Amino acid sequence: MPTQPPASLAAAVVLAAGAGTRMRSATPKMLHPLGGRTLLGHALTAASATGPGRLAVVVRHQRDLVAAHVTEIDRAAELVDQDEIPGTGRAVQCALEALDAPEPLEGPVLVMAGDVPLLDAGILSELAAAHAAEGNAITLLTATLEDATGYGRVLRSGGQVTGIVEERDASAEQRAITEINTSTYVFDAAVLRWALRQVGRENAQGEVYLTDVIALAHAEGLSVRALQVEDPWAVEGVNDRVQLAALGAELNRRTLEGWMRAGVTVVDPASTWIDVTVELAEDVTLAPGTQLHGTTTVGAGASIGPDSTLTDCEVGERAEIIRTHGTGAVIGADAVVGPFAYLRPGTALGVGGKIGTFVETKNATIGDGAKVPHLSYVGDAEIGEGTNIGAASVFVNYDGVTKRRTRVGRHARTGSDNMFVAPVTVGDGAYTGAGTVIRQDVPPGALAVPESGQRNIPGWVQRKRPGTPAAEAASHALSPQSDSTTTDDVDRGAHER
Ligand code: UD1
Ligand code: CA
Repeated sequence: MPTQPPASLAAAVVLAAGAGTRMRSATPKMLHPLGGRTLLGHALTAASATGPGRLAVVVRHQRDLVAAHVTEIDRAAELVDQDEIPGTGRAVQCALEALDAPEPLEGPVLVMAGDVPLLDAGILSELAAAHAAEGNAITLLTATLEDATGYGRVLRSGGQVTGIVEERDASAEQRAITEINTSTYVFDAAVLRWALRQVGRENAQGEVYLTDVIALAHAEGLSVRALQVEDPWAVEGVNDRVQLAALGAELNRRTLEGWMRAGVTVVDPASTWIDVTVELAEDVTLAPGTQLHGTTTVGAGASIGPDSTLTDCEVGERAEIIRTHGTGAVIGADAVVGPFAYLRPGTALGVGGKIGTFVETKNATIGDGAKVPHLSYVGDAEIGEGTNIGAASVFVNYDGVTKRRTRVGRHARTGSDNMFVAPVTVGDGAYTGAGTVIRQDVPPGALAVPESGQRNIPGWVQRKRPGTPAAEAASHALSPQSDSTTTDDVDRGAHER
């Protein structure tokens, strides 16, 4: 096998087989989201950023769901099934067995838990670098906490770590130790393989503890040292939903701080949530109640909010998005959206265009400078540049079975309350009258108006809806004594006259 350059990892192992019982959830703990990635997504992102030769993920609890998610994030990750023997040590044994094929693994191996979302690649690389520089057999990441309850405690003798004792197996004296094991280690592969063979299950939980490897290596005279992290958030694991929320808030605080330092105005950090995957340009302004998710990008000088949620959207420079819910939409530069707009996937608004108040759009391309200002549904549509769609119009795209497209040309002016019954085309520069149901194509420059005017059927309500307040009101209005006002009105009217 070729010798590894000093700090490069032969493999990384992410442990994700645990049950996560304290989440009390039908969703596996590893798949709970936080800041735009799942817990496991954060771990895999950090692990692969260290550039390991191989990346293994140990699965067991809700195996298929977790495995499918791993494959979705990283096709190159190797899935390892843990058998029925419980414990972190067993999980790593299973991983090593897989990594030892086709030939025994050599060199440094990173082992980390899948549920520590703020642990980033920087810290992992530092750990790998310290391991190489000090020539250790094992280097573990530790932290000193005010309250170490629940964690494995680090036993030391001078600079060397002599062992780790789990809370449940610890003496009162050991429980007073505040330096804890973060479950993040770099092991020499050969040492790990050898030591795991010696580990038994004689402990309070009857599990194969990975932590027992430490004392075995130390007893053998091998060098075991710790790298201490200053930042306690970076090593905190998620065991329940209280921790999930606390870590989510801290991650968001860090994300927002990063963007503010990069030139983004965040008016109210407490009500602004941005996924780690979002990209913002300089001079973006985020008003209170803004949430940006997924692959959303926002161009320079654009403003979002208040009260807007955008997922996988692309917002152009200087665009204004006000009280809007959007997914999978592309908004051009200088465009205006909202208030109260609902942008569904496949919406594309051109430069300087407008999607106004109470407008829903889906699979709709709206050209440069085109406007859909009020109370409309625009689905499966192409609207040309400079066109204005009248208020309260519906692109009738669905006949109950099939969805069809409507095309409206450039610089058209359509009246209020139009129904565009797809498939239909309105030509460039055409006009349509208010209340028109467009069933046939409108040629360029034509005015479309309803074929017949309004037809009134006298007495329909009294005949078909007898006894209703509407029928009574109509009868009263039509009776010879009535001047279509009530008696009270007549009296008051008499005084006023
Ligand atoms: C573990 C450490 C403890 C450390 C703590 C840090 C051991 C014995 N103890 O305890 O010293 O302070 O993490 O949070 O290692 N997992 C498997 N297979 C299993 C059991 C667990 O893959 O059979 C995975 C879990 O999915 C999780 C990680 O290992 O990602 C840690 O498991 P967890 O049960 O949380 O360990 P702790 O008891 O917290
Ligand atoms: Ca844990």
